[in-house]
Amino acid sequence: MVSHLHTSAQMISPVWLLLFSYSISITPSQSELVLSTQPKDGTGILNRPLMLHCAVYDTSPQTALPVKWEKENGGLAAGVHQMANGSLFFSSLKEGDLGRYICSARNGSKQIKSVVTVSKAYLENVFFSPQSQSVIKGQDLFFQCVSGDSSPTAHISWLKNSRAFTGGTQIQGQYGGGSQRKTSGMLHLTNVTKADQGRYVCVTHNPLLNISKESDTATLIVGGPSMSLEIMQGPENITVAVEMETVLHCVVHGFPTPKIQWFKDKQMLPNTSRWDLHDDGQLLVFKRVLPEDEGFYYCEADNDKERVRSQPSYLLPAVGQQVQVK
Ligand SMILES: *[C@@H]1O[C@H](CO)[C@@H](O)[C@H](O)[C@H]1NC(C)=O
Ligand SMILES: *[C@@H]1O[C@H](CO)[C@@H](O)[C@H](O)[C@H]1NC(C)=O
Ligand SMILES: *[C@@H]1O[C@H](CO)[C@@H](O)[C@H](O)[C@H]1NC(C)=O
Ligand SMILES: *[C@@H]1O[C@H](CO)[C@@H](O)[C@H](O)[C@H]1NC(C)=O
Ligand SMILES: *[C@@H]1O[C@H](CO)[C@@H](O)[C@H](O)[C@H]1NC(C)=O
Ligand SMILES: *[C@@H]1O[C@H](CO)[C@@H](O)[C@H](O)[C@H]1NC(C)=O
Repeated sequence: MVSHLHTSAQMISPVWLLLFSYSISITPSQSELVLSTQPKDGTGILNRPLMLHCAVYDTSPQTALPVKWEKENGGLAAGVHQMANGSLFFSSLKEGDLGRYICSARNGSKQIKSVVTVSKAYLENVFFSPQSQSVIKGQDLFFQCVSGDSSPTAHISWLKNSRAFTGGTQIQGQYGGGSQRKTSGMLHLTNVTKADQGRYVCVTHNPLLNISKESDTATLIVGGPSMSLEIMQGPENITVAVEMETVLHCVVHGFPTPKIQWFKDKQMLPNTSRWDLHDDGQLLVFKRVLPEDEGFYYCEADNDKERVRSQPSYLLPAVGQQVQVK
């Protein structure tokens, strides 16, 4: 054990020496100037004020030194002012102000500087939504969620049936590597019962902008070991104006979780970009209904033990108002 430690110390020491001499040769007297207020990266809201702080102290003699702020490639824009106490004030943050800023101070040959980044606050849409699940009573489960990129860091909370949900164990942390600006959140429910059934949504919140984004809804179904498939809500007969968005529903309960497929005029719905499936196929969303979408639709749920089919529903695209008026 001892000899092992000794060996690793020997291996490390040349690196240490190298770093040590490197820092000495670059900044001979750096130890005498200190950042008494270390500037921090600033995240601001566009068209709002933002302030960065920086202060430098000379340890011999013991005095504060005036600091100088600069943008990395140039001076300071109009509307950006250095205050007498060394703080940098953006009266109204603009896109062009974003970037890297240097706070520096010098006295004779002694100098010190620090570089910080000014960025704007933002919050992107939820990156990964929790998935619908069907579990057996008494089991444990996890819902997972990943926020979109956010500055500053987003916080995650949960809704159950549209109300704040504080139950279970909620864990959150940084997602991915250091360059990621996403937050991952996990909701852990143990020993679930029927009472845990419901619609769960993950909410990501940016504290500076005070805005939130919601994930897609995940449905939790808690069943006994054999729960037969049942279509709770099938597609309806519907008339929709062309060019409008419309949604056909196929809400299925049962266990194990079935796979849902959609059929139009008895043919499996081809994959195109004109419609999307959400909630594991429980929602068929047409972004823009076109006349050729007219037809009978039904959904089928299959979990290898059982297969159920909804009633057929007729989708009738109606021609636009302009045509009817004339
Ligand atoms: C510097 O002065 C401004 C206003 O004069 C003040 O808002 C700011 O907090 C001061 N900075 C520090 C580090 O106290
Ligand atoms: C700069 O350093 C010299 C001596 O090292 C000292 O006399 C002088 O007061 C310092 N200037 C400031 C502004 O602290
Ligand atoms: C699970 O919950 C039931 C009541 O719903 C309780 O009787 C049982 O002891 C719980 N099991 C565990 C492992 O906590
Ligand atoms: C954040 O926004 C909510 C409404 O979305 C509002 O009720 C609340 O007061 C806001 N909080 C702050 C600190 O502005
Ligand atoms: C839609 O209408 C057809 C008759 O045109 C009927 O057979 C079918 O059951 C209806 N579907 C629903 C979901 O009501
Ligand atoms: C649509 O794509 C899915 C996989 O993305 C595939 O399982 C399914 O068979 C496809 N449907 C058709 C009609 O090609």
